[in-house]
Amino acid sequence: MKKYLLISAILLAIASLTFAQKNTTRIELSTDEASETISRHIYGHFSEHLGNCIYGGYWVGYDAPIPNTNGIRNDVVTALRKIGIPNLRWPGGCFADEYHWMDGIGDPAERPKMVNTHWGGVTEDNSFGTHEFLELCNQLDTEPVICGNVGSGTVKEMSQWVEYLNFGGISPMADLRRVNGQDEPWGVKYWGVGNENWGCGGNMTAEFYADQYRRYATYARSYGENRLYKIAGGAGGADYHWTETLMKNIPHHMMQGISLHHYTVDWSNKGSATQFGDSLHFEVLRRCLEVEEVIDRHIAIMDKYDPEKKVALVFDEWGTWYEVEPGTNPGFLFQQNTMRDALVAALTLNYLNEKCDRVKMANIAQTINVLQALIFTDGPEMVLTPTYHVYEMYKVHHDATMIPVDFESPVYRYGDRELDAVSVSASQDKNGRIHLSVVNIDHDTKHPVVINTGELGEDDAVNCRILQSDEINSYNTFGRPDEVVPEPFSKYKIKDGEIRMDIPASSIVVLEISHQEEG
Ligand code: AHR
Repeated sequence: MKKYLLISAILLAIASLTFAQKNTTRIELSTDEASETISRHIYGHFSEHLGNCIYGGYWVGYDAPIPNTNGIRNDVVTALRKIGIPNLRWPGGCFADEYHWMDGIGDPAERPKMVNTHWGGVTEDNSFGTHEFLELCNQLDTEPVICGNVGSGTVKEMSQWVEYLNFGGISPMADLRRVNGQDEPWGVKYWGVGNENWGCGGNMTAEFYADQYRRYATYARSYGENRLYKIAGGAGGADYHWTETLMKNIPHHMMQGISLHHYTVDWSNKGSATQFGDSLHFEVLRRCLEVEEVIDRHIAIMDKYDPEKKVALVFDEWGTWYEVEPGTNPGFLFQQNTMRDALVAALTLNYLNEKCDRVKMANIAQTINVLQALIFTDGPEMVLTPTYHVYEMYKVHHDATMIPVDFESPVYRYGDRELDAVSVSASQDKNGRIHLSVVNIDHDTKHPVVINTGELGEDDAVNCRILQSDEINSYNTFGRPDEVVPEPFSKYKIKDGEIRMDIPASSIVVLEISHQEEG
């Protein structure tokens, strides 16, 4: 009997070992094939005159009791500098095609007011304008990305704005800039020619917009050494005709990028940012993954007209979009941010890394207090969201060389629906360190993985951090800011030159592998 029990136990152990091996995902890195750079601009941001993004988010004014430098909150600047924010798109969004930049310069007391018709119908007093935005970029040490007005502005108005920003000599606009206190041109490089011109930016057809683009872009001049990087207002989601028309009708030397907007949203039922169960967890991640096909199809069109990839795909609005939080202004688009949003951010960034030969810039919407925000503020208080922590953890991919990764994802099954549970991105930085960001979107199953970097030595150092939460809808608040924060993760083993670990349910793991010099 004893002998029988022993044999059974051995057989069971072998069976479970085989099962575990079968269910283990092998992740192979092709370090030798790494060649494309992941532009840090993929990790860009978008801030519009919308709700409390600019006002209250960044801008509190010179006399505010909240600690500030030249009217800009110090806490927010410190937090954003920590994640190395590479660029900031402004002033919209839909707001951009209603914005007349001359209203936002000169003595703030004299600046005309306007109605922000898109966002809550509030009065915009223009106290935050061109000079304030460029002061913000300077404090953040980030590249400005300015979106000009095509929908309701003139060619002359856009042309003059560029001259005001960038011309160093004597000219009406450069002189006006000096009168307003800025002697040197700012040298703004990234220039959007309109926003969503198929919708809030003028309801144009693709053909009409392409012609308009040619006019506006002609007079948006490059001055001196600063070559303007012009971005055509691109498609919304799966509007492939828009991209095809722009690629066909606009000479490629006139545009350095075409934009694309795609939100993770169900427009017929946006749902709550926090009140959701397993099913809506699955559903939002399913919608998030739809972006992969949308990006692929836009890229395929661009490849047809531009096989040398001279025109970039600029994914300058993306993120989750839910119902606003109960009791808040519907026009302010304020929503909470949970671990589910962190997974959306991590999945999307992994995919953008993979497509870095065509995608050269992306901007999550929007940095503070709006949509998939990284930061919330309320008066003097500030809290960092789970999405912020993804950007902090993923900083390691900025300007690193993308390493192709080969693996077959395990399945995330919900009822009769299936998704890939695991997403992986890898890169090598300038110091030779390898980084992997591994995401498990499965809400209740951990997935074992084996990572083969091809060259892991016994002395190599592995560092690992994880973002996870107790509940799938956990989030940070002013009172409890540390509900979802990255932590060190040591539950891995190194064996036969490979790293083995279980990626916990609903988690994001970032590994760093540094090779130690021998001898
Ligand atoms: O990010 C909010 C809005 O979404 C932007 O203003 C617009 O471009 C898009 O429709």
